[in-house]
Amino acid sequence: MENKLSIGLFGFGVVGEGIYQVLLQKLSLNATIKKICIKHPEKKRNAPAELFTTDYNDILNDPLINVVIELIDDADEAFKIVSTAITKNKAVVSANKKMIAESFPQLLLLQAEFEQPFLYEAAVCGSIPIIRNLEEYYDNELLESICGIVNGSTNFILTKIFKEKIDYKIALAEAQSLGFAEWDPHLDVSGMDAANKLTILLLHGHGILTSPKNILHLGIENIHAEDAKYALGKRWQIKLTAQAKRLKNGKVAAFVLPQFVSKESQLYNVENEFNGVVLQSALSDKQFLYGKGAGRFPTASAVLSDISALRYQYKYEYRKHQQQDTGLETDFLLWVYVSCNSWADLDMEDFAWIDAIHTTEQRQYVTGGIRFKTLSNATWIRRQGVSLIVLPDGIIQEMNFDLLDKKFLSDPGCLVQGLV
Ligand code: HSE
Repeated sequence: MENKLSIGLFGFGVVGEGIYQVLLQKLSLNATIKKICIKHPEKKRNAPAELFTTDYNDILNDPLINVVIELIDDADEAFKIVSTAITKNKAVVSANKKMIAESFPQLLLLQAEFEQPFLYEAAVCGSIPIIRNLEEYYDNELLESICGIVNGSTNFILTKIFKEKIDYKIALAEAQSLGFAEWDPHLDVSGMDAANKLTILLLHGHGILTSPKNILHLGIENIHAEDAKYALGKRWQIKLTAQAKRLKNGKVAAFVLPQFVSKESQLYNVENEFNGVVLQSALSDKQFLYGKGAGRFPTASAVLSDISALRYQYKYEYRKHQQQDTGLETDFLLWVYVSCNSWADLDMEDFAWIDAIHTTEQRQYVTGGIRFKTLSNATWIRRQGVSLIVLPDGIIQEMNFDLLDKKFLSDPGCLVQGLV
């Protein structure tokens, strides 16, 4: 039987207002917004004044409100709202990927104890129904890898810089004014937002409960014009990708890093605020999901889909996590390109092997393999002026690590000095 949904909404920003507008028109959903909690009552709002409150308890203590929609920026406040709502037996919809990724252990316990639906499709890839897909269609062992562009702002910025030759700062300001970027855009450009999203995908896709702190991530801040020239020469694009690939030992390699993407990849043509996810599965081979990943209405569309699912008490089951959590693998090889202003910026000893070194007047670059665990501990990858980009199909799992350490570059310093 369908539930009648009486909603308490937290936040009336880009997405909150979008949801309000859409629900006014979609009467068939049998869902009405009873109260909206906001932080700044002085702002002019496009909704009747009597709907608004600044007191959380007007929603959380109202027994007639059976659904809480949480759409605020502050992750700590969001956790308080969501956890209280669940303990008060309200169903919850959220889009707060930072809060969800950082608080998964507590949120799983709360869901198990109170048996309330807690849905968050909008938290990953905006309008693309990726979480429900992983939960339902891929609730089995067939999924091998997830590789996606999961942050709309950075993809928008990369498109503007490299295709339209617009300056980084102007492109970022545009992503902010269009409502794509986070309240703190550093979360986008540093790759942190994508790491939060990957944490969520890891749980639903591979059954792995981890923290975003365990996900190696770099953003787009250090990508250099010379990197774009290199990519152009190879007919590649540079994209910020989030990856989670099951290796032969059953564990999963996961990271968020800039990557060269070749024409053969479905991600090659994903531009602007669009997101795209390639799922590789044992029987179906490749599947590609594509859609708008940021912005008012694409995000509202995913929230709306969750609201709609609440009419029949839909819940995530986390089946894969309950069956087996294999954990993440840190010992595999990554094939990378690194460019820098000076060789002194890199620790060449960290490379397991090097297959090309090149020096131009503006820039030096090297391509080669690095053990992932070495990369994860390396501080030089975050130095200003150092740009690290994964090569296409950069995850290598077939190498003999012991052999590699002995075989290549016994004295990398000499090799470098010889070239500069
Ligand atoms: N800042 C995020 C992005 C919003 O650009 O993808 C959607 O999660």
